[in-house]
Amino acid sequence: MTQATQTLLNGDWPYPRWIAHRGAGKLAPENTLAAFALGAQHGYRMFECDVKLSLDDVPFLLHDDTLSRTTNVIRTWNTDHNPVAGHFAWSKLSTLDAGSWHSEQFKDAKIPTLEQVAAFCTQNNCHINLEIKPTTGTDHHTGAVVAEYAARLWQYAATPPLLSSFKPEALRGAAAAHADLPRALLLDTLWDGWLQTALELQCVAIVFHHSLISTETAQLVKKEGLRFLSYTVNDAETANRLMALGIDGIITDRVDFFQPDQ
Ligand code: G3P
Ligand code: MG
Repeated sequence: MTQATQTLLNGDWPYPRWIAHRGAGKLAPENTLAAFALGAQHGYRMFECDVKLSLDDVPFLLHDDTLSRTTNVIRTWNTDHNPVAGHFAWSKLSTLDAGSWHSEQFKDAKIPTLEQVAAFCTQNNCHINLEIKPTTGTDHHTGAVVAEYAARLWQYAATPPLLSSFKPEALRGAAAAHADLPRALLLDTLWDGWLQTALELQCVAIVFHHSLISTETAQLVKKEGLRFLSYTVNDAETANRLMALGIDGIITDRVDFFQPDQ
C-alpha cells in the first residue's frame, strides 16, 4: 500500500457523504457540465461521473459504450446504427449535442472532457469520483490513461479524485500508472473473491449496489479497514438503513430530494 493511500485510510475520510450521480441524476443530461452545475446548485460538493477514452486517448464523460441514447449522433452523422464512442477521435465526438435527448432546455450541452470536469471542480471547490467505464476490451489501458490524466489535472487539489470501476483490470491499470490515487472496487453482485480482489488492488473503498449491503458485508469491509459507499440510493428508507450501518458515501440521482448534510 502506498504512503498516500495509507494516510487516506488512517485519517478522516476526506470526501463528502453525499455524491450526485452523473452530475445531477435525471434532472439534467447525465455526465454533462450542465448537470454538474445543477447538482452544485442543489448543494452537492461531490460528483460521480463515467469516464472513457476516445480513439485518440482523450478521456471524456459517457456512460454507455455507444452514443445514441445520450447524444444526437443518429441524426447528425446520418447513420442507422449505434456508433461505439471509443471508435472515434475526440474532434468528432466533441461536435455532438449531448443535451437535446433530455430536453430542449439543454440543447447546447456537449460531451465534456475530463479536463473540463477538473476545471469545474477547481472553480467550484468540488470533489470527484471518476468511474472508469472502459469501452469493451480496453480495461487496462483506459484505467492507466484516466489515472495519468487525473493525477495531472488534480495535482493541486486538496483531495485526489476517487477512481472506481466495476472492472478490476481497469483498476489494475490505474494502479500501475499512478499508484497513489485512491481506488474503489464497484460491485453489482458479490462475485467470488470480491473482497480479496479489492485488497489485492489496494483499494481504499468498495462501492456496492445498495441491495448488497447487509450488516455482514458492512462488517467484512470495516474489518479490513476499507470504507464503503453505495449507489444509486434514491429513497429515504434505503439511505437511513445505510447510514445506520455507517456508510461513508451515498451516490444519488435525487439531488432535489436529499439535502447533503456533509
Ligand atoms: O459509480 C456508481 C454507479 O454510477 C455505477 O453504475 O451504471 O450508473 O455507472 P452506473
Ligand atoms: Mg457510473
